Amino acid sequence: MANSNTVSLPDLAATQALALRLAGVLRAGDTVFLTGDLGAGKTTLARTVIKALCGVEDAPSPTYTLIQTYDTGGGELWHADLYRIEDPAELDELGFDDAFGDVIMLVEWPDRLFGLVPDDRLELHLEMVEDSVGEAMDRPRQARLTGFGQWETRLDDI
Ligand SMILES: Nc1ncnc2c1ncn2[C@@H]1O[C@H](COP(=O)(O)OP(=O)(O)OP(=O)(O)O)[C@@H](O)[C@H]1O
Ligand SMILES: [Mg+2]
Repeated sequence: MANSNTVSLPDLAATQALALRLAGVLRAGDTVFLTGDLGAGKTTLARTVIKALCGVEDAPSPTYTLIQTYDTGGGELWHADLYRIEDPAELDELGFDDAFGDVIMLVEWPDRLFGLVPDDRLELHLEMVEDSVGEAMDRPRQARLTGFGQWETRLDDI
């Protein structure tokens, strides 16, 4: 079973506001999957969470490092971008097994976890609004939030 809702994100400020509300409810051990096409805004959203919880401005995208780790003051936060993972064996040395349920985990391209998926998780899918006009990057987005496990009820806190 899962619970879901949709949030409209007409501009960058709206995405950042959603990220701040999310940051306000995140606690140690939480997992958030960030999905959506290239350029949908996954890193932008993660960056705002990282700034709020870890005080780091302009966090780099983990495009090449795969994982960036941060200190929230009450535990670690991991920001992962698994786009470049091709083989499940590459995951083994990254330590996700131990980190899930311990750190605050933000994962872009979680399909590359190849099934290593915690039961308790928030999936946040970003997409461009259909039929919207304007330059691709500036087009309005919407977020679909789906809560699994304990996030079925926590979704309403965001
Ligand atoms: N409403 C919006 N929400 C999020 N980003 C927006 C919005 N409007 C414009 N943008 C811009 O779109 C771009 C999103 O890029 P970002 O790197 O966050 O995407 P991504 O989903 O992480 O892509 P990738 O899959 O390549 O990692 C940024 O330049 C951001 O400023
Ligand atoms: Mg990204």
